[in-house]
Amino acid sequence: MKKTLIFFVFLAAFLIPCFSETDEDCIVCHEDPELKTEEGKSLFMDYEKFLSSIHGQAGISCVDCHSDLMNFEDFPHAEKLNAVNCGMCHEKAMEEYKKSIHSQATPEEDCCTVSCKDCHGKHDIKSKNNYDSRVFPLNLPRTCENCHLERVKTKRGGEFIGQYTRSIHFRALDKAGLTLSANCSHCHGAHDIRGVHDPPSRVSRRKIIRTCGVCHVGIEIDYMEGVHGKDYVKGIKDVPVCTDCHNEHNISSPQDMNSSVYATKVAEVCSRCHDDEVLARQYGFLTARLKTFSNSFHGTASKFGETRVANCSSCHGFHDIRSSSDTKSSIHADNLPETCGKCHAGAGKNFAKGKIHVISEKTGNKWAYFVKTFYIIMISCIVGVFLIFIAADLFHRVFRKWIAKKRQT
Ligand code: HEC
Ligand code: HEC
Ligand code: HEC
Ligand code: HEC
Ligand code: HEC
Ligand code: HEC
Ligand code: HEC
Ligand code: HEC
Ligand code: HEC
Ligand code: HEC
Ligand code: HEC
Repeated sequence: MKKTLIFFVFLAAFLIPCFSETDEDCIVCHEDPELKTEEGKSLFMDYEKFLSSIHGQAGISCVDCHSDLMNFEDFPHAEKLNAVNCGMCHEKAMEEYKKSIHSQATPEEDCCTVSCKDCHGKHDIKSKNNYDSRVFPLNLPRTCENCHLERVKTKRGGEFIGQYTRSIHFRALDKAGLTLSANCSHCHGAHDIRGVHDPPSRVSRRKIIRTCGVCHVGIEIDYMEGVHGKDYVKGIKDVPVCTDCHNEHNISSPQDMNSSVYATKVAEVCSRCHDDEVLARQYGFLTARLKTFSNSFHGTASKFGETRVANCSSCHGFHDIRSSSDTKSSIHADNLPETCGKCHAGAGKNFAKGKIHVISEKTGNKWAYFVKTFYIIMISCIVGVFLIFIAADLFHRVFRKWIAKKRQT
């Protein structure tokens, strides 16, 4: 009994290679660089390259992927073969991909269909950690941009996507070789990419804080402690998220003049909401922040490009902005000397006392209003008296000359 079993096992081991095709069966024809379809599309298959791919290395054979030729012997085979189903072996990737916007793209409406091979290739697929892989972080932007710079007509178009190559994230990736810097798939995902306004999308308003926070952990914590973050958690959609202040693809260092949060541009970013009458009524905050800021010494200097003066975030902070009633706030009365003192050495309570956002001067700092009014009246009086004095003197001189002339004649 045992002997017959051993015999059959040996027989099977001998026969299986005879019945199933080997790669040899395919490359006899497909290694020929001249082999083409009737339409002239090349059917050449670079076997050396395939052997160095991850599938070649793993011992996967042609018919494992081109599975309709499994156990096929009667060559030549049919002209048209079924498309390769990568999901046979990569179930998880396939399941995620099926839910993505890419699996729904159609050649008619969009530029093209998007399948596994558009991001990974066919016969030269490498591990994602291999420097030559199309999805290795340093190569990935190019893989996505192949379609997204020109071919795909999304809402904001290729120019919007192309801004990524000017961002600090791309520079860190491309110039500094920092593979941990943000690339397309850190923000959008790889297999489960959704439409950008789809709620489960990583870049939707509800998810973007976490998406950036994966790397900028400390900033996410700060943001959550501030007035904007506290309301974000409650689901209020009007508070700013990272991309409202920093933009999406062209994120730059705040020291870069092109940054949306460069010192002289911050006021514009905050005022988009804080000078909005509708939002102000809804949330009960004071408006005219930009106007009052622009009228201040800081605002005027800032308009002329002076970066050392205070902008909104020098006084309010930027990620953990708090209401003035919060004792931890940088604009709480007790903390103002310290806040102003960052730049005005030795600023005391009195220095910081004056209202910063003076809307109507009467309702602002009464003393400042009084002193200013007093000065205006006094200066007007002095100038007036001088003018009268000069006029009288002039009149006197002219009159005397006229009298003298009369006397001569
Ligand atoms: C006798 C030569 C020959 C052998 C052996 C052969 N092929 Fe082909 N193959 C062809 C030709 C010719 C075509 C082009 C058919 C056409 O479109 O005119 C082709 C086309 C193909 C295509 C493209 C089909 C499509 O739908 O566009 C694939 C994939 C393919 N072969 C895979 C294989 C695999 C895998 C094997 C081994 C199991 C194999 N071939 C063995 C000659 C061969
Ligand atoms: C990892 C899976 C995989 C393996 C293994 C594989 N192929 Fe392919 N092959 C593809 C994909 C994907 C395509 C693109 C067409 C499609 O989607 O069906 C393709 C297309 C082809 C074509 C059509 C020409 C072209 O380049 O589009 C030929 C010929 C071909 N394969 C031959 C082979 C041969 C011969 C082998 C074995 C030496 C092999 N393939 C192994 C995935 C594979
Ligand atoms: C839009 C481009 C894109 C498409 C389409 C795509 N992939 Fe990927 N794939 C990626 C990226 C990017 C990575 C690397 C992810 C990472 O670094 O963690 C990846 C990684 C992988 C990996 C490595 C393991 C893993 O999950 O990280 C496998 C396996 C894989 N993809 C298979 C597939 C299969 C199968 C399909 C088709 C169902 C597919 N991919 C479609 C972009 C794509
Ligand atoms: C017959 C099963 C099979 C098929 C079909 C198949 N693969 Fe694979 N794939 C594997 C195996 C096995 C590995 C090697 C796994 C390893 O070494 O970790 C692999 C590895 C990969 C990797 C690298 C994973 C990594 O760790 O970075 C990618 C990417 C990949 N396959 C994509 C594809 C794509 C795209 C297709 C369709 C064109 C495909 N595979 C078809 C079995 C398959
Ligand atoms: C730092 C994060 C980040 C990186 C890196 C990034 N994106 Fe985006 N992307 C976003 C955000 C945020 C949006 C807009 C979401 C919104 O409108 O609310 C967006 C929007 C898009 C859109 C939709 C465009 C439209 O018209 O609505 C596409 C397509 C896109 N990105 C592709 C890419 C590609 C390709 C790359 C890599 C070259 C990339 N993104 C890199 C965050 C990022
Ligand atoms: C083969 C071409 C192709 C490749 C490669 C490709 N895409 Fe796409 N992408 C499309 C098409 C087509 C759509 C669908 C357009 C639509 O419906 O708005 C799309 C949609 C998207 C969207 C949703 C846009 C929106 O309007 O909400 C994002 C985000 C996106 N792709 C990111 C990526 C990223 C990231 C990569 C690389 C990992 C990538 N794509 C690779 C063709 C491609
Ligand atoms: C209300 C607007 C606003 C929001 C929301 C916001 N930021 Fe900022 N961020 C700023 C400003 C303004 C600066 C510049 C501060 C400075 O001048 O140093 C800044 C600076 C930064 C810096 C550089 C830090 C430094 O001092 O160099 C990073 C990184 C950053 N933000 C990331 C984020 C991330 C991630 C999020 C979302 C969790 C976020 N920001 C949300 C306004 C904002
Ligand atoms: C995958 C990790 C990663 C993700 C996700 C990410 N970043 Fe970054 N970010 C970095 C790295 C790394 C740098 C530092 C680059 C350098 O200094 O050269 C950086 C730099 C920055 C800077 C400039 C900081 C400075 O001081 O110059 C800002 C602003 C910024 N990121 C904002 C964002 C925003 C907003 C998002 C989400 C839309 C985001 N980042 C998502 C990794 C990431
Ligand atoms: C996308 C719109 C938006 C942007 C941009 C924005 N904010 Fe706000 N901010 C809000 C909303 C909405 C509230 C009200 C939250 C509440 O009190 O319920 C708020 C609250 C505040 C408060 C507390 C107000 C109070 O009365 O307690 C301060 C201070 C503040 N923001 C400062 C800033 C500064 C400084 C910037 C720029 C760095 C900025 N905000 C950018 C929407 C915005
Ligand atoms: C020189 C410091 C300074 C600058 C610059 C500044 N603020 Fe203020 N801000 C304050 C102080 C102090 C208060 C609280 C007392 C007051 O109302 O004068 C305040 C109050 C506010 C409030 C009401 C918050 C509350 O809790 O009462 C908002 C909203 C606000 N500022 C937004 C802005 C915006 C937007 C900018 C830029 C356009 C800006 N601030 C520039 C110091 C400053
Ligand atoms: C980011 C730095 C910075 C912060 C913070 C700041 N200032 Fe200033 N401020 C300046 C600079 C620079 C000037 C120009 C001073 C000069 O040229 O001597 C200036 C000028 C002024 C002036 C008019 C000129 C003068 O010296 O009398 C007043 C008033 C003033 N600041 C008040 C304040 C108050 C009050 C605060 C706190 C609520 C404050 N500043 C916070 C940088 C700052």
